[in-house]
This record gives sequence, structure tokens and C-alpha cells, in this order.
Amino acid sequence: MAVGRLRIEPARAPLRGRVSVPGDKSIAHRALMFNAAARGRSRVKGLPGGADVMSTLRAMQSLGAHISRESTSGDTIIEGRGLEFSVPAGPIDCGNSGTTMRLLSGLLSGQGGRAGTSRFELDGDSSLRRRPMDRVARPLAKFGAAIETSGGRAPIVVHGRRLHAAAVSLEVASAQLKSALLLAAIQAEGESEIIEPALSRDHSERMLQAMGVDLVRESLSLRVRGPALPHAVDVEVCGDPSSAAFLAVAASIVEGSDVLIENVCINPTRTGFLKVLERMGADITVEAVERSGVEPKGSLRVRGARLEAFQLKAEEVPATIDELPLLAVAAACAQGRSVIGGAGELRVKESDRISSTVALLESIGAEVYERPDGLEIVGGALEGAAVVDAAGDHRLVMSAAVAGLACRHPLEIGDISPVAVSFPEFFSVLEGLRG
Ligand code: S3P
Repeated sequence: MAVGRLRIEPARAPLRGRVSVPGDKSIAHRALMFNAAARGRSRVKGLPGGADVMSTLRAMQSLGAHISRESTSGDTIIEGRGLEFSVPAGPIDCGNSGTTMRLLSGLLSGQGGRAGTSRFELDGDSSLRRRPMDRVARPLAKFGAAIETSGGRAPIVVHGRRLHAAAVSLEVASAQLKSALLLAAIQAEGESEIIEPALSRDHSERMLQAMGVDLVRESLSLRVRGPALPHAVDVEVCGDPSSAAFLAVAASIVEGSDVLIENVCINPTRTGFLKVLERMGADITVEAVERSGVEPKGSLRVRGARLEAFQLKAEEVPATIDELPLLAVAAACAQGRSVIGGAGELRVKESDRISSTVALLESIGAEVYERPDGLEIVGGALEGAAVVDAAGDHRLVMSAAVAGLACRHPLEIGDISPVAVSFPEFFSVLEGLRG
């Protein structure tokens, strides 16, 4: 496991090689949670081993689902509970994972059990305890859900009970909230409608439809007929585009690089960063496109290129949300002034990713300005730093490492252990590309 400080030397040679990245975190959470809720047995191939996904796996086990690893194949085998979970003795630990806590809030809110109500307590680490949970409790209340928060945050208590159908318009484009409501809607009697303000990642819809749920999308509206008992489906988890993005930007900013990242999920609700990099003049081609169950996948061929500044429009934020700190690093290496706006959601991620990205870029000598809902970055030479602080945030640690490749002097990252959350192998994969 990656622990402690790490010194990143500037790149003195091109990055080269063929690599793959861990399975997609968003798909993996859903493959575990939905199949544990479904009727029947399923097999999941390529489950990533990051800490967030393990939080969901352990949570589902604590709710009585039998989940095991087949020794011969390494596949994960799940015995579904048919939407009847048991109540764990103590709190469910969601670790650092917002997806685990928010999706479980929806799923457990409909778990009344035979006795009428069941009490589930959900908690997490210090970062998760700072993140807003009233944003999921409030819309779920429209289905009749009863969730107590601690001043709007975790720990939370879900009182599982019978739900009724509802029509809800979400205030933020958030796949976590949308998915929580979908999981409530499948347990409610009648037709529910969920409207999102902009399209967020759609893995839940794709998977629930494959599981036989009557779910229809019309523009930004989703209609779901409940109650619906999903049937288990086998899932092959393709590589995480949010992890691939770090290697793609690394290869783009190091002159002469030529890197192939194989088997990456290229669902369009996730690949906004590719569009932005293309606009910046990056040399990226998507090859070997095929389907992996209900998701499209392909390989990314990335060569070094001269990057130009970009302006990010508010409507592009949902499809780029997890890559914005990294795109800010790309902007710092590009020609001109880049502007990221309409991205206030960054403030409620694993860290306040506007201020943590600004602090990171400033510490390595970039010209950067903090805005309430984004940041502006003027590209230029980067110096490096004695020690950079990545705010305990996995995506900031990896963004710092990528930035370090383009600095004039070495840079030291104070604590690299957060990469365990999503991409534990990140530093060895990067090292392999450096030759
Ligand atoms: C996720 C949704 C996004 C994203 C997170 C994973 C998901 O969060 O940032 O990393 O798997 O549903 P929001 O729903 O808060 O935008």
C-alpha cells in the first residue's frame, strides 16, 4: 500500500507503454449494491480493490448479503437478498465513500421489514462526516422516507419503512442523489418521476434496466414503476475513466510520450475530460471500441502535445466533475488563461476541491485565482515544491503527481496514502510508464 511522503522527479524522458487501470468505481459500487439487493446469484468480473468499493462490499455483507471471491477466477460472487436485508448490530462504516452512504440511504429507506420499521445507522471518516447528507435526506422524504442527520451531515440514521411513489425535481445534477431516489422508487408503490437539472452519470439507469426494472428516460426525466424486484445480472467492470484521466494528462504534458490505456469505460456521461483535452489540442484517439454489458468501452491512445487554454461551460461540469482538479493541472501546463466556472459542487467533494486545487497549484508556482464556483489558471512554467499538501484527497494526490512531471524541480507529496481510495496501484503504473 502507498504510504507516507513521495518525491516526484520532473519527467526527463517520454512516457511510454501499454497499461490498464482498475475497474470503474461507480459501476463497481452499483454492481455490488444492486446485485446484493436483487433476486438471484451474480458474478462480477474485474471488481477494483480500492477502499471505497470495499466500503460498499462490507456494508452489503453487514446487511446479510453473501459476497465471496472465487479463488480460481478471482471473480466476485453475490447472492442477492431479494430486497430483504437484515439489520446490522452496529453502524455501517462507509469510510471515505459518499457513493456508499448516499445510495444506501435510498436503498435502506424502504427496508421496513416485517416489524414495520428497521433502524440503520450510517457513518464515515472525518472527510465524509463533513459532506452534506441533507441533500439526500430531503428528496427521499418525498417518498415517505425518515432519515435523521447530524446537523445535515453524517452520522445518519435511516428508519426503514414503507414508501410511496413521488415526483421529485433534484436541485443538483448528482448521480448519487438520483441513484438514491431510484433505489427508493423501486421499493415504493406506484409510478415515481425523478427529474435531474442536467444529465449526470447514468450507470444506475443502465444497470437497473438490465435487471428488468421498468424505468424509462425522457430527456431529463426518469419514470420508474414500483415495486420492482430487480433480478441479478453478471457484470464485467471496465476500467475507470476517472483513473485513466490521470495517465492521459500525464502523457499529454510530457513531450514525445505515447501511451495506450486499455479497456476503459467510455460512457459519454463520464468522458467530458476527453472533450476538454481535445479542445486543448491533446492528441488522444479512442480505439477498439466495444461493449462491456450495458457500458461502452475502448482504449485511449495518448501522445504528448502542446496544450492550449480552455473555458469550461457550466453544462460541462457533470461529465467532468471528478476530473476538474486534474484539468486545472493540465491548464497550468497549457498556453493561455483557462476558466473553470459553474463548478461550486467541487466544494463538497472529498475535500473542498476548489481551494485544495488552488493551494496545490500555488505551491508549485502556478498563477491561479480562486472563484466562488471555480478557478482561473494562467498557464506557464511550474517550479516544484518542498512539500505539497493534497488535503487527504485521492484525486489531489494524483493531480499533484501529474503536475510534478512538468515541474522544473522535484516536488514532494506529503502523504500519498489517499490513493488507496480509488487507484492503489497508481504510483507503480506511473513508474512503469516512466521506464
Ligand atoms: C458518483 C457521483 C459523483 C462523483 C462521485 C461518484 C457516483 O458525485 O463525483 O465520485 O458514483 O454516483 P455526485 O453525485 O455528488 O455528483
